[in-house]
Amino acid sequence: MRIFVTGGCGFIGSNFVRFLLREGKDVEVTNFDALTYAGNLENLAGVEEHPRYRFLKGSITDREAVDAALRTGFDIVYNFAAESHVDRSLYEPHVFLDTNVRGTAVLLEAALKAKVKRFVQISTDEVYGSLGSDGLFTETTPLKPSSPYSAAKAAADLWVLAYHHTFGADVVVTRSSNNYGPFQFPEKLVPLFISNAVDGNALPVYGDGRQVRDWLFVEDNCRAIELAGLRGRAGEVYNIGGRAERENLAVTKAILRAVGKPETLIQYVKDRPGHDRRYALDIAKIEGELGWKPAVAFEDGLKRTVEWYLGHREWWSRVKSGAYREYYAKHYGAAL
Ligand code: NAD
Ligand code: DAU
Repeated sequence: MRIFVTGGCGFIGSNFVRFLLREGKDVEVTNFDALTYAGNLENLAGVEEHPRYRFLKGSITDREAVDAALRTGFDIVYNFAAESHVDRSLYEPHVFLDTNVRGTAVLLEAALKAKVKRFVQISTDEVYGSLGSDGLFTETTPLKPSSPYSAAKAAADLWVLAYHHTFGADVVVTRSSNNYGPFQFPEKLVPLFISNAVDGNALPVYGDGRQVRDWLFVEDNCRAIELAGLRGRAGEVYNIGGRAERENLAVTKAILRAVGKPETLIQYVKDRPGHDRRYALDIAKIEGELGWKPAVAFEDGLKRTVEWYLGHREWWSRVKSGAYREYYAKHYGAAL
């Protein structure tokens, strides 16, 4: 089977590429990535020489590059490529529109032209908006995105699903909750707080820290995404969640315990504008149809993640230097 992965140098994409090649399946993987600030070839160290792996640098917004890359024929396209950080979408919303919406549209069109058999759009639970203290998002919950990031992801979902409805394109959409695990860029809560704690720096908790996310270990998501690509029904959406709702403060304290640092490092800072209060997913559909369920408990996944970051200080120190520092100063500067 010939697989085309976009955004394979980012967090989930690189875990997915490793997952496909590690499982010893009969797959060839082409990774097409623009290498933005979030894309890092080091995330695939050791994989580059794999005989069934190939890397192509390019943007999903570049019609010619995408056409050329897809020309050799593929069975499935998994579209991970995106601008993925909500906070950055406050500063540069149009980049999110361009990559997440136009890029997806260009890639889908090219995939259809190249007769790719299936297109899997990697999406997010954030497209549903925010929940109160009760209830779960199902796949039929109306979309009500809050940020430029989630609005762009929602638009891309609807675009892809419209191509199924109108043109019969074989597409599947996965909407997962918050992933955590190795190789996550340290701008997101879990790796930012682990790395800050290790360095004895403040952990900037937005608002009251009582927002709830449903945490999913990245390998569980990789398994679910692969299954959705292989056995999901065309035109369908699959929620992928960890059944591990936690308040941000609870996650923060668990990280401090795991790293062995005091809670005095917690620093409450101004809330994120438009901050969604709670996400939680109903995952009965993927459990019932595809037999998937999350396998890694949050406490185990967090322990593995903390151990990985402790063992890969060079990786995140390099990632946190350079351009990232400018973003950090702009975003947190006044408070920290
Ligand atoms: P990431 O920011 O770590 O990686 C994104 C990757 O996409 C990078 O390698 C980057 O270079 C690449 N990229 C960006 N623009 C591109 C372009 N125009 N053309 C080609 N490549 C481009 O993101 P992530 O956290 O791994 O998320 C991957 C996907 O999963 C995204 O679509 C995101 O919306 C979705 N998602 C993420 C989470 C999460 O918790 N991280 C949860 C649900 C859904
Ligand atoms: O739910 C899926 C989404 O999860 C994905 O679609 C996004 O790509 C991914 O980035 C993530 O979005 P969140 O905004 O939930 O993740 P983040 O790690 O940025 O924040 C998690 C929570 O922690 C959120 O309530 C905001 C809070 N937070 C985050 C940061 C970076 C803080 O309190 N302080 C921080 O410094």
